[in-house]
Amino acid sequence: MRTWVSNTVMHSYPGMVALVTTEWAGKQNIMAAGWHSYISYEPPIFGVAIAKERFSHQSIEQSGEFAINFVAEGYADYIQYAGTISGHKSDKLEQLNASYTKGKEIGAPILENAYIAYECKVIDQRTYGDHDWFVGEIVGFYKDEAVFQDNGLPNWEKLSIPLYLGRSQYMIANKEAKVIDLYQDNK
Ligand SMILES: Cc1cc2nc3c(=O)[nH]c(=O)nc-3n(C[C@H](O)[C@H](O)[C@H](O)COP(=O)(O)O)c2cc1C
Repeated sequence: MRTWVSNTVMHSYPGMVALVTTEWAGKQNIMAAGWHSYISYEPPIFGVAIAKERFSHQSIEQSGEFAINFVAEGYADYIQYAGTISGHKSDKLEQLNASYTKGKEIGAPILENAYIAYECKVIDQRTYGDHDWFVGEIVGFYKDEAVFQDNGLPNWEKLSIPLYLGRSQYMIANKEAKVIDLYQDNK
């Protein structure tokens, strides 16, 4: 039974982790962000919470741009590395040997292995407690159509999505996961 507790409770996971890529002053960077959200569908707008001390914070603030990349299970190590090492100290994209191209509309790297990616231009930045919420208009989309079904859902025969659980643990959403379909056709 639930009881009132006096401490802060944070229940954010399991959840998809975005790899936020940036380019500023000739340096490309990548970090993991679990606190992100699509905010508007039309026009497409995306938000991500980034703590001030992150190298990515500086990059986004200065460049006014960022990209969002989602990677499959095979690249979960990108999430772990990008989320535990700082660009203040390391060239993470080089260390990961990650292939990427520059965005079409922005300078940030778009990972070759992303199954979905967005190019974002910052339209708002607001401080909420210990994180800043960066809001970006999505100005470019990338999608690996081969891993999705016609109805827009992932093709689970072809795509396995890593979900972060906390404490460096991941759960994999794949064809073996249990799916419940609650669609009712009002017969
Ligand atoms: C799974 C995961 C999710 C994370 N989510 C966030 C987040 O939403 N916001 C944030 O500021 N840091 C988050 N972090 C921590 C940053 O990714 C981490 O501090 C990273 O080293 C920052 O890199 P940078 O200094 O190169 O920007 C997360 C880390 C992990 C492993």
